[in-house]
Amino acid sequence: MYMSTDEIRRAFLAFFESKGHQVVESSSLVPANDPTLLFTNAGMNQFKDTFLGLEKRNYTRATTAQRCVRAGGKHNDLENVGFTARHHTFFEMLGNFSFGDYFKQDAIKFAWEFLTVTLKLPQDRLLVTVYETDDEAFEIWNKDVGVPADRIVRIGDKKGGKPFESDNFWQMGDTGPCGPCTEIFYDHGEHIWGGRPGTPEEDGDRFIEIWNNVFMQFNRQADGTMEPLPKPSVDTGMGIERISAIMQGVHSNYEIDIFQTLIKEAAAVIGHDDLGNQSLRVVADHIRSCAFLIADGVMPSNEGRGYVLRRIIRRAVRHGNKLGAKGAFFYKLVGPLAEIMGTAGEELKKQQEMVEKVLKIEEDNFGRTLDRGMAILAEALDNLDGKVLDGETVFKLYDTYGFPADLTNDVARERGFSIDEEGFNDAMEAQRQRARDAGQFGVDYNDAIKVDADTEFCGYDATEGQATVVALYREGAAVDAINAGEDALIVLDNTPFYAESGGQCGDTGAMTADGVQFVVADTQKFGNAIGHTGKLAQGAVKVGDKLTATVDATRRAATSLNHSATHLLHAALRNLLGEHVTQKGSLVKPEGLRFDFSHLEAVKPEELREIERVVNEQIRFNHAIDTDVMDIESAKEKGAMALFGEKYDDEVRVLSMGDFSVELCGGIHASSTGDIGLFKIVSEGGIAAGIRRIEAVTGEAAIAALHAQESLLAETASLVKSDAASVANKVSALVAHSKQLEKEIQQLKDKLAAQESAGLINKAQEINGVKVLVTKLEGADNKALRGMVDELKNQLGSGIVVLGNVSGDKVGLIAGVTKDLTGKVKAGELVNLVALQVGGKGGGRPDMAQAGGTDAAALPAALESVTPWLVEKL
Ligand code: ALA
Repeated sequence: MYMSTDEIRRAFLAFFESKGHQVVESSSLVPANDPTLLFTNAGMNQFKDTFLGLEKRNYTRATTAQRCVRAGGKHNDLENVGFTARHHTFFEMLGNFSFGDYFKQDAIKFAWEFLTVTLKLPQDRLLVTVYETDDEAFEIWNKDVGVPADRIVRIGDKKGGKPFESDNFWQMGDTGPCGPCTEIFYDHGEHIWGGRPGTPEEDGDRFIEIWNNVFMQFNRQADGTMEPLPKPSVDTGMGIERISAIMQGVHSNYEIDIFQTLIKEAAAVIGHDDLGNQSLRVVADHIRSCAFLIADGVMPSNEGRGYVLRRIIRRAVRHGNKLGAKGAFFYKLVGPLAEIMGTAGEELKKQQEMVEKVLKIEEDNFGRTLDRGMAILAEALDNLDGKVLDGETVFKLYDTYGFPADLTNDVARERGFSIDEEGFNDAMEAQRQRARDAGQFGVDYNDAIKVDADTEFCGYDATEGQATVVALYREGAAVDAINAGEDALIVLDNTPFYAESGGQCGDTGAMTADGVQFVVADTQKFGNAIGHTGKLAQGAVKVGDKLTATVDATRRAATSLNHSATHLLHAALRNLLGEHVTQKGSLVKPEGLRFDFSHLEAVKPEELREIERVVNEQIRFNHAIDTDVMDIESAKEKGAMALFGEKYDDEVRVLSMGDFSVELCGGIHASSTGDIGLFKIVSEGGIAAGIRRIEAVTGEAAIAALHAQESLLAETASLVKSDAASVANKVSALVAHSKQLEKEIQQLKDKLAAQESAGLINKAQEINGVKVLVTKLEGADNKALRGMVDELKNQLGSGIVVLGNVSGDKVGLIAGVTKDLTGKVKAGELVNLVALQVGGKGGGRPDMAQAGGTDAAALPAALESVTPWLVEKL
């Protein structure tokens, strides 16, 4: 029974919905609540905290078609893509989940029913594995479902491995939810090589795992102990591409509908017609991860997720290039992809234009260095002694030509070489060290600070408080006491000082007691402790002392205005430019604010005006700025904007300014928007592909910015003896006047040249009956030489002119030959003859050529050489 991939996806979700499961949307490829994970790589990621009992949902059964990326980080399939039948950077995982609801019995029955009844797979093609000691699962398969015992394989822990290290014990990572699993295999038939799971031939392609059912029972701790989960649960995963291959009667994933379409489209945009080519598979695979990563907010960059994305794009571009692609092609596959992905492509369709632009910019950028880099690499490989390309060359290709190391490796591998990865890493580390050495000094306290108790932050409503010193640090190490004059870091039991986070800078201020003053220069978070760095100006402080902590309230107030204005700006940008605008970074200080956001082109001046107008309007509405603490689900229901990939606690702070802006935020704000007073944008520009930055000021600083502009205008007006109102007219009149003057000057210069040449004409001599003028000038305007030669040629009627002009330490040379003589003498050759002798080189048309030189002393002799040369020619 043939089924398209989209039909299978729908059938799966519908099947589990009919079994009481909530259909939940695929989560983003950027894991929202798990900094340990580079990209979402399994359906259960979004439910991790639910399995652990930390997060409650209002359903206990769920089903999803989850988009996953396995590239970079722990699960990295990138380099195998295109060379095997089943490795992908991007795939979709169909899954059903039970959160303390059903367990082994139902999970197994559901899976079997879906495969054999809904999809009608023949039972004798299926084979299952269970964890060696999981008799319960074995019995269910054998007795309840009726799978013969010889088709149930027990798989134990790996030989020489740790306990639970087994293909049939699934763990999300070194820590977290895990448990034994049962896997369902499909037998593709005798004609394909390979053996049953557990045999030495299991890596062959005959028996393919299609569905993993994990019985989540434990939470693995960092020390390896297995804590039982609050309630036994189920997590399953079936790669949609594999089940599609079966339902479409093909063996390789690349033969299924989605890939066949993408391969054809790739062939068309590249202009290549061998559809079996491996590079086409690479391109077809890579467009899926790249397009969906960008749609989920990842932008190509030089670090972290963005760099993995960049590497995949560049690998795709290189493979396209190898097939002869001319110019950017990769971005053209976004449309066909969104189409063929069916329901999973709907979100991509909405963002198609943005995704295409990002890809095109990235392709164009890399296209500029690709050919040059490939040539250098080819040469290095041609001249290689041995089989390993040195790390320095790999690094040079990376640093200068933008070749990610795995791309270089790819090319090297195709020619039977490998790269020295360690050498590359060393070269990279050496460069980082140079950057660090050139960068900041200062003490790094990160490793030193270990405080048991959390610092309580009590500064939302106060700027002063009483506190006890919990710990003291100097030069990166813990101390019991500090003395006057010393730089140190103080941790208190509670503090009104806001520690830098969410883009808002840390507070400054002072801590005092009788005869003691510690000046706080910055406040930072160290885990759950808040550290105040600064200098003890007076007295001595020891652990256990009581201090009065006082924040610099003026600075804090200015900062809070900027923070509130940032929220208004964010909302205004989304309203005016579109929902694709997402925050990519922000910096809020007392002096002003900086806001980075995704947007593909420069914000137009009229758009900036409108943004400024809208923000100021909201300021005048004087909304109260309300703070509510609520659970994350309620916050989302309220429409609060949450930052992408940011981890939020169960309880979140929701900041609202009327209906205009509702955002999750832990920062410090004004009490109503009117406090901001005035909002003024001071700059807009691009900081990376697809990322713009706006800088703005508020309150006093905004007034100061306006005053500065006014002064500038007044100064300009006074310089041109005008006033502010008419300065534009005055300046434009001055510009027109100066243009007129330039024109007149040029005319005068031409006239002067004509007169000079009139004098020069007398110096002409005859060589073999041809009038020839060779002469040296002093301090003539090099730009006027052309006019002079034209004039002289006119006057001679028929003849040859060579002028050498010394102006400062430069020599200007020009030669002119009237048309009737260019058959015998070429001006270009003539000028070159002289130029070579005065340290220059030149050329030009046969009738007029110019050159420059630097050796003025050699000019007379050089000009003298013209006559004998012409005697030969004429
Ligand atoms: N989480 C399980 C897997 O990824 C289902 O295989």
